[in-house]
Amino acid sequence: MTNKNLKKILVLDELCPPYDQIKVLESGILLVKEPGVLEVDQLISRVKQDPLIKGIICSLTQKINEKVFQELPQIEVISNIAVGLNNIDLEAAKKYGVRIAHTPKVLSDATADLAWALLLGGSRRLAEGDRLARSGEWKGWAVNQLLGPSLGFTENIDQNLGQKRLGIIGLGQIGQAIARRAQGFNLDVCYYNRTRYVELEQSYSWGFMDLDELLMQSDYIILAVALAPETYHLLNRTRLNLMKPNAYLVNVGRGPLLDEEALIDCLESGHLSGAALDVYEYEPNIPERLRALSQVTLSPHLGSATFETRQAMSRLVIESAESIIQGKEPCGYFAI
Ligand code: GLV
Repeated sequence: MTNKNLKKILVLDELCPPYDQIKVLESGILLVKEPGVLEVDQLISRVKQDPLIKGIICSLTQKINEKVFQELPQIEVISNIAVGLNNIDLEAAKKYGVRIAHTPKVLSDATADLAWALLLGGSRRLAEGDRLARSGEWKGWAVNQLLGPSLGFTENIDQNLGQKRLGIIGLGQIGQAIARRAQGFNLDVCYYNRTRYVELEQSYSWGFMDLDELLMQSDYIILAVALAPETYHLLNRTRLNLMKPNAYLVNVGRGPLLDEEALIDCLESGHLSGAALDVYEYEPNIPERLRALSQVTLSPHLGSATFETRQAMSRLVIESAESIIQGKEPCGYFAI
C-alpha cells in the first residue's frame, strides 16, 4: 500500500554524519539518496520516476539549469550545500517559482580561517617546507632557506619598512570574518565591495578602495566574492597586471573569478610573488602549469571543511527543504 501523503527529498551526494543516517525525518518526509552528482538529464529522469520527490538537496558541483525547472514541476525546493549558488540558474528558479536554499553564515568563520591559513602558510612557504622536510634532502637550518615576506611588524625592525596592506575583494559575511582576523597582524586593511559599509569602516579602521586602486596598492589580496555573471573574470589579465610587483594572491571564492591562464602568466613571469588557491576555474582540473609552480599553494576546495561547519550545513539544508515541503514558515536561508 502506498502512502499518498508521503513526500520525499532526493539527496544527491553525501551529508555529514549524523545527518547522513536519517532516513525518515520527524515530519514524515523521507530522504532518498543518490551516490553522487548526476548529469542534468539523469537527474531529470531519476526525479520523474518518483512523483513523490518534492525537493532536492545537492552540492555545488551539481548543475541545476533551466531544463531541470522546466521538466520537473513537482520540485518545490532546491537546497544547496554551499553558500555559493553559481551552479544553479537562479533566474529560472524564480521564473518557475522554486525556492532555493543555501548555507551562508554557518561557514563564514571556517572559510575565513582557511583564507588565513592559505595566506600565512602560502606566503611563508609551508607546503614547500613540508616537501623539503619529508624529502630526506634537508641539510638543516640556513639563513636563506625558504624565505617569505613578513606580514606586519609590531616592532620597528627596520625604519625603511612600511606597514603592509591587505586588500579584501568582497566584504560579505566571509570577507568581514577575514578582515576581523587581520587585527592581530598590524596590517592596513582595505576592501572593495559593491556596497560600502561605512559603520564597519569606522569601527574597525577598514578603508574602502575601488577595485583597481586596491589591486595597485595591496601587498596581499584575498578574493572572497560570490561568482555571478557580473563577477566572472573580475580579475582579468588587465586587472591582474595592475597588482603590485611581488603581491601575493589568495582565492577562497570561486575559480572563475579570475582568469587562471593570466594568473599563471603573472606567476611564471615573477610579477606576483605567489598565490594560494582553494578554488579553480575548471574544478577539479588544475592545469599542469599551475601545479608546476612551487610558489603556489594549492588546496582542494576546503573552505568550509570543518566538522562543525559541515554538520551545520547538513542540518540546514535538510531543515530548509523540509520547511518548504511541509508548507511551513521557511526556515534557514533562501536566495529565492
Ligand atoms: C563553498 O565553496 C561554498 O560556496 O559554500
